[in-house]
Amino acid sequence: GLKFTVAIDGPAAAGKGTISKAVAAHFGFAHLDTGLLYRAVGAKVLNGMDALKAAQTLEPVDLDSDDLRNPDVAQAASRVAVNSDVRTALVAFQRQFAARVGGAVLDGRDIGTVICVDADVKLFVTASSSKRAQRRMDELNAKGMGLTFAAVLEDVEARDKRDSERATAPLKPADDAVMLDTTDLTADAAIARAISLVAVAR
Ligand code: C5P
Repeated sequence: GLKFTVAIDGPAAAGKGTISKAVAAHFGFAHLDTGLLYRAVGAKVLNGMDALKAAQTLEPVDLDSDDLRNPDVAQAASRVAVNSDVRTALVAFQRQFAARVGGAVLDGRDIGTVICVDADVKLFVTASSSKRAQRRMDELNAKGMGLTFAAVLEDVEARDKRDSERATAPLKPADDAVMLDTTDLTADAAIARAISLVAVAR
């Protein structure tokens, strides 16, 4: 197949992961959750490593740990993500992934605006912050975490604020992104909408 890139951006827990995985599976594309890169760097910083050093030496195996899903790692990720040198260190890996033959879906905050400005399809996935916190709480508590709604909402809103207000690659829709508000959509409905947008572009 040919090179085909789908960029999926949006705030925390809007449904990017669910949609990205389903689009990738449907079309046989590879999927990269770019948040994992920042989470892996954040986790290393929590373990005492320098952020830039962590970004420059990141390896695929670093993306495998289950602990990367924890809210404290998410916060650390959003703090290291403000650092433009850290971001620069992670660009080549993401662009190489996007350039692979056979198609790729990348999800994150700056895929449509910075990493893959020429993506074939750009989606910006949103939902109300309370819906997003509810979904993220259900997801994490299904893994036995026992988090309160208030704690998850605080995490989501703090990250959105930091991600949107930073100087480098802030969270915002690309001018040519299609907006997808999942507040009142089931996962299946959101997936169907995303698949049809990709199908049209293909
Ligand atoms: O997507 P996820 O919530 O796992 O991302 C964790 C954090 O990593 C985000 O809050 C954001 O600060 C950062 N991030 C980013 N750019 C990306 C992906 C994630 O700045 N492309």
